[in-house]
Amino acid sequence: MARSALLGSSLAKKYWMALTGLFLVLFLFAHLAGNLQLLDMSPEGQLKFNAYAKFMTSFPVVKAISYLLYLSILFHAFDGFLLAIQNRKARPVRYARENAGANRSWASSNMALLGTLILVFLVIHMKRFWYEMHWGELGLDADGNKDLYTVVAAAFSELWYVVLYVVMMGVLAFHLLHGFQSAFQSLGLNHPKYTPAIKNIGVFIAVVLPVFFALIPVWMFVNR
Ligand code: HEM
Repeated sequence: MARSALLGSSLAKKYWMALTGLFLVLFLFAHLAGNLQLLDMSPEGQLKFNAYAKFMTSFPVVKAISYLLYLSILFHAFDGFLLAIQNRKARPVRYARENAGANRSWASSNMALLGTLILVFLVIHMKRFWYEMHWGELGLDADGNKDLYTVVAAAFSELWYVVLYVVMMGVLAFHLLHGFQSAFQSLGLNHPKYTPAIKNIGVFIAVVLPVFFALIPVWMFVNR
């Protein structure tokens, strides 16, 4: 079977999954920090958010990082898909339920499913916000910036959209719960002294990021 050097062994795949995954976690922190501005729903807060969105879509360095982000998302998803297939082939007879559960958490056994759900969420999310910001016909605010705030507020005035975001942040939580500590393992950064701390940081991240992300649509819906 012909294999490219980049995607070759499952070890190489895991390595790239880990690197892109950790980069995506960094993005999530930055994205959350920016989006928490949406909690200030005053007219000044709205202008500030639109100015921030303009900066994030026009400043060259941020734009370059965005391209790296798109590549990382595609690579992480594609590599994860290949790994899932490879794992299935390597283990045609699935472990009996009791064995499968012995050492593996529910999240670790369902990373591909969780990842696929996040990918579907991303398509919906980016169509509604990112696509609109870049190619939609947005009105302008008092400062002459594209009024992305109104697009977000309109989305989060729909109950089903709020429910979708809250549920999907639960999915993200489970993906991060296993993914963060697993990334360090894949990179070979295992150490009896540090591994417990990495696991705890992973749990912290898996709770804090999704909870604060979920707060935004709920807050905007309640105060609409
Ligand atoms: C309540 C939660 C969230 C809000 C309010 C939100 C809001 C937004 C907005 C307004 C944009 C368009 C801005 C732009 O094009 O620069 C955007 C882009 C994006 N969002 Fe979110 N987001 C949320 C959660 C998430 C989550 C959980 C993920 C990933 C799992 C995510 C991934 C992305 C990506 C990849 C982009 C494109 C970024 C870029 O072009 O640089 N977002 N988001």
